[in-house]
Amino acid sequence: MLDPELGASIVELGMVGTISVDESGRAVVEVSLTTVGCPLRGQIERDVREAALALDEVSQVDLVMGVLDAPAKAALMRKARTIAQSRAPLTSIPVQTPVLMIASGKGGVGKSSITANLAVALASTGRTIGVLDADIWGFSLGRLLGVSGDVQARAGKMQPLERTIGKGRIKLLSMGLLADEDQALLWRGLMVQKAVAQFIEEADWSDIDYLLIDTPPGTGDIAMTLARLLPQMGQLLVTTPAIAAQRVAARAADFARKSNIRVLGVIENMSGFTCECGKRHHLFGEGGGEALSRSLSVPLLAEIDLDPEISEGGDHGEPAVLHERSDGILHQLAERILVDVAPPAGAVGCSARMLDAIDRAVGNAL
Ligand SMILES: Nc1ncnc2c1ncn2[C@@H]1O[C@H](COP(=O)(O)OP(=O)(O)O)[C@@H](O)[C@H]1O
Ligand SMILES: [Mg+2]
Repeated sequence: MLDPELGASIVELGMVGTISVDESGRAVVEVSLTTVGCPLRGQIERDVREAALALDEVSQVDLVMGVLDAPAKAALMRKARTIAQSRAPLTSIPVQTPVLMIASGKGGVGKSSITANLAVALASTGRTIGVLDADIWGFSLGRLLGVSGDVQARAGKMQPLERTIGKGRIKLLSMGLLADEDQALLWRGLMVQKAVAQFIEEADWSDIDYLLIDTPPGTGDIAMTLARLLPQMGQLLVTTPAIAAQRVAARAADFARKSNIRVLGVIENMSGFTCECGKRHHLFGEGGGEALSRSLSVPLLAEIDLDPEISEGGDHGEPAVLHERSDGILHQLAERILVDVAPPAGAVGCSARMLDAIDRAVGNAL
């Protein structure tokens, strides 16, 4: 598994100590972090546990968490740097920049609407949010975000189209901006994978703080192509509250895990509807998001009600979150992402932010 910040394997980085497994299937794994108060500790623990439990011989995992001493930390940083340098820079997106793929088992659950609103909410905090609409056959983000025009190339790179949101910005690339619908419909297999790779490799995503990627439902190849180019990519899984929908979403999660893509959280959409008389109706069942998040051991990040503002906002290219109260559910979702799920690069501090400080300290000592 990868260190979420350094983007290199934690074994390679020397963060994993001894590992033992007894006959009852109980594994004891020693993991050393770079700092005690590592904000990513929870995620690292979860990932290690999951990786160990994936082995047939292991039925229970006990983690022994420790902290690297100064020389070990310095060695780790040297190693991290070498690994980073040896990897040819495939893209203009640094490995520390969080990349979130919005996924679902089936269409029509609100993936694109959530991508648009999340992008706007994150941008409204003064950040630059890249949005890649990789839904080749059902692109919609240009319309949802109110962005249209021709994509220009500069220095051989596609320039995403921009929209200012308060002090922040959205940068969008969508199949809809490049090809017409009939053309895209003919694309299959390798052609699709190539097109998606070009969106990452041959586009100018410099300066973005996040990249959100909307994908067509249930297409493993696109997710795998993206994961190869963006090893830090995690998935946010969108489901409706119906138990049947939750099973479909669970299959998508299963596929993600097999492709080594981390599922970071579940978003339940169309959770309920409050009518004018104030009565709440559960039109699409109840409990699907909660059940899915429990079965995947990932957080349920938001339960978003059916809200006409969301569909109407989408029709007008003015995502509902633009007019939502600052404590509304869409803003809350963005806050969860910023604080717990995928803090922006530099806001965390386990390892990457300490890089220079450590280098200086070690440099002085040598
Ligand atoms: N929370 C919501 N409240 C009201 N309408 C919604 C909500 N989420 C999505 N919709 C509507 O449902 C339809 C499908 O949403 P969309 O975002 O296109 O789904 P997907 O991308 O998963 O196919 C759209 O018409 C959209 O406006
Ligand atoms: Mg969609």
